[in-house]
This record gives sequence, C-alpha cells and structure tokens, in this order.
Amino acid sequence: MDPMNSELMNWDSAYKQEGAFAGPPPWNIGEPQPELAALVRDGKVTGEVLDAGCGHAELALALGAAGNTVVGIDVAPTAIEAATKAAHDRGLSGNVTFVCDDITSFTGFDGRFNTILDSTLFHSLPVEARDGYLRAIHRAAAPGAHLFVLVFAKGAFPPELQTKPNEVDEDELRAAVSKYWVIDEIRPASIRSHKPEFADMPAGAMPFDLDEKGRLKMPAYLLSAHKQG
Ligand SMILES: C[S@@+](CC[C@H](N)C(=O)[O-])C[C@H]1O[C@@H](n2cnc3c(N)ncnc32)[C@H](O)[C@@H]1O
Repeated sequence: MDPMNSELMNWDSAYKQEGAFAGPPPWNIGEPQPELAALVRDGKVTGEVLDAGCGHAELALALGAAGNTVVGIDVAPTAIEAATKAAHDRGLSGNVTFVCDDITSFTGFDGRFNTILDSTLFHSLPVEARDGYLRAIHRAAAPGAHLFVLVFAKGAFPPELQTKPNEVDEDELRAAVSKYWVIDEIRPASIRSHKPEFADMPAGAMPFDLDEKGRLKMPAYLLSAHKQG
C-alpha cells in the first residue's frame, strides 16, 4: 500500500492544492484543534511529544512555543517542508523537529515519547493500516505514556459522499486501540474544519453546527489511553 496515496486521497497533492480540494485542505485551520488545545491547557500533555500525522503542525508548533520537545511525523513531504519552515521562522527549530515517514511503520524512536497526539490522523488511515499504526506508536512510546486520539464519529459526513474519512463508532475504536493500549476514556468531542469543497459533494450537504469562528463543528470522539507502565 502506498501510504502517501491512500484510498482516501493523495496527501501531498492536497497540500499542494492540486488534489481533492479546490483550495487549502479544510483541516488546515491555522491553530490546534480546540479539543487538543484544551488538553494542553489542562496540563495533560507532558514530556517529549509525538504529533502523529502532523500536517502543517500547528499543534506541534504551539507545544514547541510553550517549551515542549516535539517530533512531528507525516507522510506528505509538502506538509513537512511547510512545518519545518514554520518552526524555523518561529525560532522553534531547537525543540520542534519534523520527519517525513509512514506512521504505520516508522522506527527509530523506541520507548521515547511521553505523550502521543493524533489530531485527525486515525480516520485518515485505511482501516487495514490501523493496526500497524497503533503498534508503531506503542513501540515509540515510553512506559506510562499517554495517547490522545481526536477522530471523526460515524455519521459525521453525509452518507452520499463517495470519498470520506474512515469515521469510527465507539466499539470499533475501542477494539482497535485496546489491542496495544489501556483505554482510559472515549468521549464525544468535535473536530473543527473549514467547509470542504469536494467535487462529488452535493450543494448544502454539510448541515452541521458552526463554531464561533464560522467553522464546521463536526461530531468526533476524543480517546484517552496509556501504555502499561
Ligand atoms: C486530516 S490531516 C490532519 C493533519 C494535522 N494533524 C492537523 O490536525 O491539521 C491527516 C494527516 O495525516 C497524514 N497521513 C496520512 N497517512 C499517513 C501515514 N501513513 N503516515 C504519516 N502521515 C499520514 C496526511 O498527510 C495528513 O497530513
């Protein structure tokens, strides 16, 4: 399987604005997802951090600006290039680094991370790639490390959409993650997004709540888990 050009989309083309969307990818909201920013504010993100499937990495960059040591990994070279440039421009190159790799099979960080953050990556992977992903991040986690996954809930997208993220229900998420991780909580949450302009999306097909900034506020789960210490 070619991870960069998965069944969902060619990730690098999306970042180059030559792919599935008319403009920038709708998940590029210019700041961390509010659900994950709240975890940071609440002191739940500690030690060395992995931003898995970081994209343009506003989350990793915000953590770096707060003094954390962060590694961001993404399969799309264009995103890694943009994130690396942003770290440089913001004076964060000392503690925020980016690696272009496949998150479902990466190595070289065994036992290292104390917190692993998944900001809308899980539903971006093919279903059959989930196991490799969960195993790879478990290998990269230190004993007792925390994992937080923000993922679209089933039904988040209109059923008539041909191409959409691999949304999850709670049982499916629990079954996949609990093979490697001890689950602490799965709770309803939301993902903020700009309105996607898919070629096959019927007009008016995104009947969701908007947040105070006029972005879509879409149904999701926030999973919290830890690695056995
Ligand atoms: C919906 S985007 C989220 C990006 C970022 N975390 C955010 O919150 O803006 C999903 C990201 O996962 C990355 N991705 C997809 N499959 C991957 C893989 N196998 N390995 C690493 N990254 C992957 C894509 O390139 C994309 O940047």
